[in-house]
Amino acid sequence: MLEPERILRLEDDRVVFLDQRRLPLEEADVECRTAVEVADAIRTMVVRGAPAIGIAAAYGYALAAARGEDLVAAERVLRDSRPTAVNLGWALDEMRGDPSAERARAIHRDEVERCRAMAAHAATLLAPGTRALTHCNAGGLATGGYGSAVGALLSAWEQGLLAHVWVDETRPLLQGARLTAWELETAGIPHEVIADSAAASMMGAGEVDAVLTGADRIAANGDTANKIGTYSLAVLARHHELPFYVIAPSSTVDHATARGVDIPIEQRDPTEITSRFAARNPAFDVTPANLITAIVTEHGVHEAPYGESLTRAVVEA
Ligand code: MRU
Repeated sequence: MLEPERILRLEDDRVVFLDQRRLPLEEADVECRTAVEVADAIRTMVVRGAPAIGIAAAYGYALAAARGEDLVAAERVLRDSRPTAVNLGWALDEMRGDPSAERARAIHRDEVERCRAMAAHAATLLAPGTRALTHCNAGGLATGGYGSAVGALLSAWEQGLLAHVWVDETRPLLQGARLTAWELETAGIPHEVIADSAAASMMGAGEVDAVLTGADRIAANGDTANKIGTYSLAVLARHHELPFYVIAPSSTVDHATARGVDIPIEQRDPTEITSRFAARNPAFDVTPANLITAIVTEHGVHEAPYGESLTRAVVEA
């Protein structure tokens, strides 16, 4: 498993990222020396995954403060780097009162701790011999260490509950085929990559027991934005009477956004799909709360109605 500091870290005069665009072929670093450069790394997906881009923004803000940059401008450029994951704005809100390197590193440490806690909660939902299906990459690379949905799989594997993982390749940028498969391989967990469009027939053939994904933003009512294709998996899971679990830290829950329809969906460059024809490239979709069997945060397992159970978790925390 990758150390959190290998995925991203703040040094005296720079933020260093493991370049996720080049994995698994090459382990190369990207160094950013200004908030604008960090925002660029987020936008171009050197670093990606909701909690990881929140941590990156916190590091970028601390770097800007240390350099004496205009913090209003630094916050704006970081906040605007990607629109869907609420962790970005959440981390910058956390940093505003204390833009120190220590505060940013504490956010990183806390996110990894949240992952470990929610992984333990999520593993209680899985029966021995589970064949899980996951989408995109919700591993340590996406969270700054350990992982959310992949963290749950690691925890289940350590407890002898997991038999196999089906990894959606996750078009168009292949976070599943490149990053999740790499992380599972490193952990020694049996897995096979499948084309996104193979999920239905795998479920129909009885080869999937549960679907586990991360989230980029969970609205107050439980509607959940995650990588494009997640919604179709939830529909398929319901049709095949399989549980569909969302595993995400409380920093991904947006109590200020009432419903999924209010979540801004990032539209990425169509050339990520094809440069020959006109194309549309929404990077995320929204899974309605009623298709989600449970949402797991570091506070525990939340079931519908989510408005109540997610709010209660925050109040009781
Ligand atoms: O576009 P990406 O790669 O940043 O999208 C990431 C996802 O959709 C993840 O599933 C999500 O951020 C949860 S990661 C713990």
